[in-house]
Amino acid sequence: MDLNTNYLGMTLTSPIIAGSSGMTATVEQVKTLAEHGAGAVVLKSIFEEEVHNEYADFIQTAKEQYGAPQYFDVNGRRSPIEYYDYVLREENLKKYITLVEACKAAVTIPVMASINCFFYSVEWLSYAVNLERAGADGLELNMFFPPSDFKHSREEKEALYFQIAEKVTRAVSIPVALKISPYFADLGPMIQRLSKTGIKGLVLFNRFFSPDFDIDKLEVKPSFVFSTPSDLSLSLRWIAVMANKVDCHLAGSTGVHDATAVVKQLLAGADAVQVASCLYKNGPKYMQELRAGLESWMASKKYRSLSDFKGKLSQARSADPAVYERAQFMRYFGGKKNVTL
Ligand SMILES: Cc1cc2nc3c(=O)[nH]c(=O)nc-3n(C[C@H](O)[C@H](O)[C@H](O)COP(=O)(O)O)c2cc1C
Repeated sequence: MDLNTNYLGMTLTSPIIAGSSGMTATVEQVKTLAEHGAGAVVLKSIFEEEVHNEYADFIQTAKEQYGAPQYFDVNGRRSPIEYYDYVLREENLKKYITLVEACKAAVTIPVMASINCFFYSVEWLSYAVNLERAGADGLELNMFFPPSDFKHSREEKEALYFQIAEKVTRAVSIPVALKISPYFADLGPMIQRLSKTGIKGLVLFNRFFSPDFDIDKLEVKPSFVFSTPSDLSLSLRWIAVMANKVDCHLAGSTGVHDATAVVKQLLAGADAVQVASCLYKNGPKYMQELRAGLESWMASKKYRSLSDFKGKLSQARSADPAVYERAQFMRYFGGKKNVTL
């Protein structure tokens, strides 16, 4: 059975990728995933947010100890805060570079580094260049500028996606993928425009932490950290709609919990499929089960390679393209044609 797929210009021996998460944060985990048949791994993102959080703690401590920030460097006129900000960023990056190097030495499958582009910052570019130097086979930019941000206009936020994608793809020669959310006013055209920026792939979609409420303690608490199988439908629809409409590869992400979901994403037209929650739930060895399930389904259909069925159920190849755009529950289309929900 040939499970080879071309993703971002790299040949993967399986389309199933361990997506960026705590499951890809150490060399040992990455080794186990590779031993159990992962096609590639996307390392846990390097988060500027973490630096900002540590930085916030530092500012608080510095303020308590010294009052207002003081200049201490006669030449550079740097305040201690600026200095520590720089040191924290450097340390964070150094740790991440060590992880990339160690993973590259430990496994033969492609190792992608991931940068979390959450804040308005110029650091991404230097991170990207450094991670390419460290040996990463590709870069995934985990990009999200929250729609709940009232300080920046929609135009400003959308422009950032293009600016960062264009700058990073010009600065490095390894392939770059963007991992995006579905929260855009004009999702289809936005995905299409992003695919033309020089990136090699789009990951549809990221999933985010959401708050929930504890009504006894009257506190905010984290809601479900992990996805469920029913979360598949959003990315499945958009992979199916966008396959053949983009100038880059597509990876399906969110809600893939079993081999059936892997098959569905490939039928929709995905070039690769990313998994995270199911690895948390079942352990990294579950990668083997996903792979075996895909092979056994292919055998049952007498398919020998992914190209025999990839995109077979994409919108472009569908006999009923309207079904992918149907949004309202006017009529339930499960055979009982006249049931109105
Ligand atoms: C605990 C946890 C940590 C995650 N950390 C990251 C991360 O560092 N960077 C990233 O791009 N995505 C991260 N993700 C998102 C996953 O890569 C993935 O996009 C999302 O969980 C949806 O896929 P799933 O349904 O297979 O879990 C994380 C997800 C979980 C559950």
